[in-house]
Amino acid sequence: MSSSAPALVRRTIAPTTARALGRVAVELAESFRSPFDPELVAAVDRRAPELPSEVAEAVQPPGDDGAVIISGLQVDDAGLGPTPESWRAAGTAGFDFELIMLLLARSAGQPFGWRGQQNGRLINTIVPSRGREREQTGASSATTLAPHTEDAFHPGRAHLMLLGCLRNPDRVGTTVSSVRRVRLTDDHRRTLAEPVLPILPDSSYGTDHDQDSARPTPPVWDGPEGPTLRYDPAYTPLERADADYRAAYGQLAAELDRVKITAVLDPGELLLIDNDLAVHGRVPFTARYDGTDRWLKRVNIRLADRARRPAEADEDGFGEELVEPFGRQQPSTDPLAG
Ligand SMILES: [Fe+2]
Repeated sequence: MSSSAPALVRRTIAPTTARALGRVAVELAESFRSPFDPELVAAVDRRAPELPSEVAEAVQPPGDDGAVIISGLQVDDAGLGPTPESWRAAGTAGFDFELIMLLLARSAGQPFGWRGQQNGRLINTIVPSRGREREQTGASSATTLAPHTEDAFHPGRAHLMLLGCLRNPDRVGTTVSSVRRVRLTDDHRRTLAEPVLPILPDSSYGTDHDQDSARPTPPVWDGPEGPTLRYDPAYTPLERADADYRAAYGQLAAELDRVKITAVLDPGELLLIDNDLAVHGRVPFTARYDGTDRWLKRVNIRLADRARRPAEADEDGFGEELVEPFGRQQPSTDPLAG
């Protein structure tokens, strides 16, 4: 990357705040040995408001760039143990950092998981997995992970997403593109604002979904605060659209590529992504499979005060259910949201 390449804004947490966060995480880890402990949620709810206000400021929505890097936190590499071979093998590895992420996520909004993904865990493990190198999921490695909205197929998808880095020895880049930075002709904007094609669930949720219930959704529309994005080309059946639509969609893809920013996360750094403004992806890399691989954690966050398009209220999300121990909030929609 040249020195003039665009970079994301960095929010650096001060050492005193980082220590306060780490202390609370360690105390929680000593009391709750597992992320599945039902008492953990109440404890996080109790402890998150006690944290310095800088924590809540660090996880404010990123603005028009669509993403920021949060730095200033430390990871004890020796204490982590080997990078697990899959999310199933992760167990409680990295639990302290998961708790830091949970505290950050709770300071931002409502952390949630998915019943059908990684057994409903609130904090997901992202590691390269053998045999899945070329999938369009976080378990891949050898292929470019195409830019996408997280869980674009679902009306309850995250408003914000936190990706936390435990290990990234080969400095593998995560890519981010903001819809607020793309240029589209008026014709293309009008075309893309029409609900023409559905977005189908990605293969991390299995492959046996009933496609008959799929509702078409626009990839770009004007929300109350500007252009808003819902985009996952790998799971959008573009061949069903006419040539004009395909041309507009192709222009959107080219523009998202043009404005793409590559962020290389170091251990302890987090990428906070606005999932309504920015798509994210990953450059290809060669997995090591020797216990030192790239290792990220992910948490999805919903914001109580952010609405979605009213038409999304009619979507069933292909039957995928949210796991919402921090509150049973239905996906909200707003008549003004387009
Ligand atoms: Fe993703």
